[in-house]
Amino acid sequence: MNQQDQSRRNFLKVMTAAGATLALANTAKAQPAAEGKNVALLKTPPMEKIRVGFIGVGARGSGHVGSMLKLEGVEVTAICDTHEPSRKASVARCVKEGRKEPAGYGEKGELHYQEMLKRDDIDMVIIATPWEWHTRMCVDAMNAGKHAFTEVPAAITEDECWQLVNTAEKTQKHCMMLENCCYGREELFCLNLIAQGMLGELLHGEGGYLHDLRGQMREVEHGTGSWRTYHYIKRNGNMYPTHGLGPIAQYMNVNRGDKFDYMSSVSSPAVARAEYAKKNFPPDHKWNQVKEWKGGDQNTSIIKTALGRSIIVQFNESDPRPYSRINLIRGSKGIFMGYPSRLMIEGVTPKGDSWLQDNEKEAKLEEFMKKYEHPLWAKMGEMAKKNGGHGGMDFIMLWRIVTCLRAGEPLDQSVYDAAAWSAVGPLSEKSVAAKSCNVDFADYTRGAWRTTPPLGIIS
Ligand SMILES: NC(=O)c1ccc[n+]([C@@H]2O[C@H](COP(=O)([O-])OP(=O)(O)OC[C@H]3O[C@@H](n4cnc5c(N)ncnc54)[C@H](O)[C@@H]3O)[C@@H](O)[C@H]2O)c1
Repeated sequence: MNQQDQSRRNFLKVMTAAGATLALANTAKAQPAAEGKNVALLKTPPMEKIRVGFIGVGARGSGHVGSMLKLEGVEVTAICDTHEPSRKASVARCVKEGRKEPAGYGEKGELHYQEMLKRDDIDMVIIATPWEWHTRMCVDAMNAGKHAFTEVPAAITEDECWQLVNTAEKTQKHCMMLENCCYGREELFCLNLIAQGMLGELLHGEGGYLHDLRGQMREVEHGTGSWRTYHYIKRNGNMYPTHGLGPIAQYMNVNRGDKFDYMSSVSSPAVARAEYAKKNFPPDHKWNQVKEWKGGDQNTSIIKTALGRSIIVQFNESDPRPYSRINLIRGSKGIFMGYPSRLMIEGVTPKGDSWLQDNEKEAKLEEFMKKYEHPLWAKMGEMAKKNGGHGGMDFIMLWRIVTCLRAGEPLDQSVYDAAAWSAVGPLSEKSVAAKSCNVDFADYTRGAWRTTPPLGIIS
């Protein structure tokens, strides 16, 4: 064989391998048949009182118990946690606040929550367990006739995303992911600004979850680090996409006029957690016995939407760095950027310049933000700040849910949002494993994204 033949052969070999990788990565799962009607604008019978059951009352779930006790028209009827001290602490909190003692579940193990779901005095279930439990618990809750509210992400595989959608449609129950960052003051301000056309036509967004959480590795027996650390060991992709992405998706009316079309993803090397383990734990500690930390410290994913917009989603919970969710939204007339907050709108801010939080232009920005304050924040902001939870957004989110359920109105986030926003996790893993090949998003709405109206200005 001459040299030319050899290089042609090598070329063909490489192209065949690349084609196979591409085909592997890009194959969107076949769309399963719908088992019920679309639930994007689901209305349910109004309820004066909302009876709540909790599954998982660790760091996050216990906070939700406290917030729900402050809301009018809410009764906590049952609490499940396999960890007895956590369960007892939340039950005791209800009693301390003058409520009837909720029934406790969890002492019989990981599936004891299913006994709790058999109760007929629960309307909604709040799930704040480790990620791998979210879909299963939502599906069981809906099948038992309860509305399901889960912490983020709602699902960690593409199959789980479909399970959520199909069960919500089959049971006609709400299934909402508790994406609290959609209720932050700046995110609501942006939503309002965009709805009023101030940024022009939207072109590009950037969001992320950039938060040094290495300290959680000290939680070995119980708590977030005791289960989340295994995800960093085993998975490589964007494991926590929804805090940064959810607000951007709402700005762009994703699932309500636009949809995520495809994405690609790349991860950096994984270094920080091994370094942290070496520095902070003895050599025989289990975190020092890990042979390979698969999850790259930094993941960057790029999404293209059906209307052609671009979105960058970043993930990094491993490196020393200041906290950021990025929150950048770019339109044809201007841009808002978070962390720190900056705003530039042609004809509003000085030419070629922005108003920036934390400098002399801050007063201008604040004045403008007040002018375009979202009505929901204007109404609830002070009360939310007093009640706390990530600057008040957690409280506003729960208040909105309870208000909508009591009135029988549709929720702000649908099961299609939960599925599409969470799908970035498994799709990023697929893309990273295939040299950043493009991977398609499933259309969880089965075409209804074209006709579902944008989220109105809620208040
Ligand atoms: N939205 C936010 O701002 C935010 C903030 C923190 C955590 N979270 C999310 O909240 C969830 C919980 O995180 P966390 O930090 O509270 O973790 P955590 O480990 O402190 O709490 C989880 C609890 O679930 C319990 N649990 C586990 N399996 C169970 C089962 N089968 N049945 C009953 N109870 C079970 C555990 O005993 C534990 O008490 C995660 O999904 C996390 O991503 C969200």
